[in-house]
Amino acid sequence: MASHALLNIAVRAARRAGEVIVRSMNNLESLTVTAKARNDFVSEVDRAAEAQIVEIIRRHYPHHAILAEEGGAQGEHEVRWIIDPLDGTTNFLHGFPVFAVSIACEQSGRLEHAVVYDPMRQELFTASRGGGAHLDNRRIRVSKQRTLEGALLGTGFPFRANDRYLDTYFAMLKAATQIAAGIRRPGAAALDLAYVAAGRIDGFWEFGLAPWDTAAGTLLVQEAGGHIGTPSGEPYQQGGHVVAGNPRVYAALLELFAPYIPEEMRAR
Ligand code: IPD
Ligand code: CA
Ligand code: CA
Repeated sequence: MASHALLNIAVRAARRAGEVIVRSMNNLESLTVTAKARNDFVSEVDRAAEAQIVEIIRRHYPHHAILAEEGGAQGEHEVRWIIDPLDGTTNFLHGFPVFAVSIACEQSGRLEHAVVYDPMRQELFTASRGGGAHLDNRRIRVSKQRTLEGALLGTGFPFRANDRYLDTYFAMLKAATQIAAGIRRPGAAALDLAYVAAGRIDGFWEFGLAPWDTAAGTLLVQEAGGHIGTPSGEPYQQGGHVVAGNPRVYAALLELFAPYIPEEMRAR
């Protein structure tokens, strides 16, 4: 529930960004799209959505620091907002309706508030430290699934710089495929983590994520009673390789993946 002023602002900003995104679904063909790198696209919609979010935050909290995917790091303050204005840009650009707005607010490096908003389904996932996680106004919890057998897992395939881990990843995917009930690759990491929090998937893993992909999702998972860490079971610092799930599925994934993790990945 949006009872905190900072969370209220995050919700307002996420909804506004969602409107910008949904409105532009009708003219995808005429969008200006630029490649940040090979197969890494940013559209004017990512930028417009981010501008709306930043404007709303700045209006209320002009001195807070911001880390946003498109605009980078701005300002220094103990309160910092971590923003992915459009998580799932590739989906969005193809009209594949799975994407979200992700906004987290941290204080002195500790995540305090989180919003992941899916503008297509108009689903609002929120969390505040100590206050639990919510989907709209209902409390959400991770699933009660006890084993990988029968579990529905989410994942993301490694690409760009992380394609050096493809063999490791496919070994893990093979092992998971042989035991789980199903594996999905929806294409928006923030939403994947929100789905772990809501118990829609029992676990999730992906390599090489950015802080804005995972900041809000991390608090959602934790406040919903789940675990999130690195593939070798270290605490997850925002950015890098991630495994999440309900406590049992999380532990089972770590055990399943352990034989495949290369030394250099353990260091992260
Ligand atoms: C991407 C999505 C995707 C994940 C990528 C992210 P973007 O974010 O979360 O699911 O596999 O690693 O970069 O670029 O669409 O904001
Ligand atoms: Ca993202
Ligand atoms: Ca993005």
